[in-house]
Amino acid sequence: MKTTGLDGLWQAGRDFLGVRYPLMCGAMTWISDSTLVKAVGAQGGFGCLAAGNMPGEALAEEIRNCREGSDAPFAVNLVTIAPNFPAHKEAVLASEAPIVIFAGNFPKKNDVAQMKAAGKKVVSFASTDSIAEQMVRFGVDALILEGSEAGGHIGHVSLMILLQQVLFKNPGVPVFVAGGIATGRMIAHMLLMGAAGVQMGTRFVMSEECHAHPNLKARFAKARAREAMSTPEYDKRLPIVAVRALKNKSTEEFGRLQLELLQQMNAGTLGHAEAQVKVESFWMGGLKKAAVDGDVDRGSCMAGQSVGLVDKVQPMAEIFAELLGEAETELEAVKARLATIG
Ligand SMILES: Cc1cc2nc3c(=O)[nH]c(=O)nc-3n(C[C@H](O)[C@H](O)[C@H](O)COP(=O)(O)O)c2cc1C
Repeated sequence: MKTTGLDGLWQAGRDFLGVRYPLMCGAMTWISDSTLVKAVGAQGGFGCLAAGNMPGEALAEEIRNCREGSDAPFAVNLVTIAPNFPAHKEAVLASEAPIVIFAGNFPKKNDVAQMKAAGKKVVSFASTDSIAEQMVRFGVDALILEGSEAGGHIGHVSLMILLQQVLFKNPGVPVFVAGGIATGRMIAHMLLMGAAGVQMGTRFVMSEECHAHPNLKARFAKARAREAMSTPEYDKRLPIVAVRALKNKSTEEFGRLQLELLQQMNAGTLGHAEAQVKVESFWMGGLKKAAVDGDVDRGSCMAGQSVGLVDKVQPMAEIFAELLGEAETELEAVKARLATIG
């Protein structure tokens, strides 16, 4: 598709990722497999393979699958807090994957150096301005600025604030933006603000090519933005890893569990360590339950607030055509508006 206006804006993102359209499909554990990566690549976008916590050999094979029948560039997304992270690093270092994205917690300086020494471009998520600054000091080649509107594990700062704290200050590396974006109109405005490209997750779950369970897609289609909620933390004695997911039976139960555990801790009938284990084990296997098994009542239906902007499953080609068309039209509208102020 011709993207005359956009081409003037997203050249840095195109050059960095090596694709026609710097629209990234963010890695999603249990969902972003080689099929999704190649489906995005086939449209000229950029796919990210999710390592999650799969065994190292399985990741090595999935990386090879991304290359089979496709020469589209892609990234491997490594979660630094995953128990299999060391094996994942080995798999990536031994592979042809051109770009590595660090997520979860931030990477160590040495992780970045190791990947760069192997010729990989390194990208890191940043959910605060201080993480963004530290990652640039560590030598990453680009940032994904992800706001708390996003699906999955999230930080606490919205994209609106991060744009002003990081993007507008021009950190000296390409910045891709994520969290709550699902329309071409918004893509156009992010590029006008200086983003090198845009990353989306929820919107791409709603592609026909995505292997997520049909029950999860059906739930996404009906969900409103306000149903994609961040996990509450009631007391700093019981720290919670914040996740944005759709409200369901399990999210309600999790809230009740935390309150019960705190009551027991206050009464002195439960120790802190035991309570923390109960909290941490509650969601184990939760995303697989929703995304693979289709149990949307009991599983973790991770979704961005962008879920309120999607209502149907579409072929990937149609999603790209829609995003690109809307973005081009919006740029024209902006140009026309600017012309009126002379
Ligand atoms: C179901 C789901 C699983 C996700 N898993 C991961 C992951 O494994 N690694 C990661 O870096 N980001 C993960 N994310 C975040 C996405 O890569 C992306 O940044 C996010 O979805 C953007 O927000 P949006 O959903 O509003 O577009 C996940 C998001 C979702 C919805």
